[in-house]
Amino acid sequence: MVNILEVVTDESLRKENWWGKNYVCQINNFWFLPKFVPSTIRVLNEFKPLPNDVILASFPKTGTTWLKSLVFSIINRSSKESSLLVKHNAHDLVPTLEVQVFGTTRQYLDNESHHSSTRLYSTHIPYQLLRKTFDSSNCRVVYITRNPKDTLVSMWHFTNKWKAVDQDGPWHIEEAIEKFCSGVFPGGPYYDHVMGFKNASLEKPKNIFLITYEELIKDTKIHVKRLAEFLGFPFMNHEEEEVDEIVKNCSFDILSSYAVNKSEDFPSWFQVPYNSFFRQGVVGDYKNYLDAKTIERIDALTRDKFHGADFIT
Ligand code: A3P
Repeated sequence: MVNILEVVTDESLRKENWWGKNYVCQINNFWFLPKFVPSTIRVLNEFKPLPNDVILASFPKTGTTWLKSLVFSIINRSSKESSLLVKHNAHDLVPTLEVQVFGTTRQYLDNESHHSSTRLYSTHIPYQLLRKTFDSSNCRVVYITRNPKDTLVSMWHFTNKWKAVDQDGPWHIEEAIEKFCSGVFPGGPYYDHVMGFKNASLEKPKNIFLITYEELIKDTKIHVKRLAEFLGFPFMNHEEEEVDEIVKNCSFDILSSYAVNKSEDFPSWFQVPYNSFFRQGVVGDYKNYLDAKTIERIDALTRDKFHGADFIT
């Protein structure tokens, strides 16, 4: 076990090659991009959530951008801030703890830098590391997850949009599959990440809400209402039209049509263009990239890791 209080840089951590010349560092069984090690440690050591904070947690590529858009819209629905998604990418409206918030400045910790009195953040840090932070407050956490094969394929596409591809060459799908299955993957192992939050949501249903990308796609409206209820911003009977508006305004087609989300500009906080957060937004696209043998291999791993639970495959 790494003593988190003692880690300041990635030098003392175990490292594994991940793709090209890029490596990931291990903190207590989980793998992190070296760039985010110091800020992750700062989150774990310094972040004190307020009781009405909302934290959107996820493994990368499982629907974070969509969840941010929906929750931002639910919380800000009666203010003029509700239209901010037209001009701003969701990641600039809902900052990530280990990227923007504890990156260089701490400006986002200030209540006044938020659009409502509820501070809204996101994170990819696993529950196993954040447990103490969450236990220190009554804050609400929403965890979104997604089937492993679409998550892997989405990450493979996303990584191939990184600036580093120019120098390091593309990440081949065969390599991505190996890394995903071995767990040596940013945020990985995927299965441990998911099980950490899944178990926590069963233990603390009032504080931790789990939703899957697949159920959100299947009936967005029902789940937007459930989310609003959980977050303490329930919709009244006369607000049906507002629910419909939020579902429509956060749909893949609408959000991906805005100039900010079509932009090839890079945000200040990461090495991918804004448009790489929107690709296809469908369930089952993995069938176009993984052969039958690989599908069976990942399905067997999923059954094993999720103990055969009828969950996500
Ligand atoms: P695909 O690569 O399968 O298309 P994250 O936001 O966690 O990085 O996840 C990105 C995935 O969510 C991408 O999946 C992206 O296209 C999809 N996505 C982004 N916005 C969406 C939306 N409004 N509705 C549905 N899916 C969306």
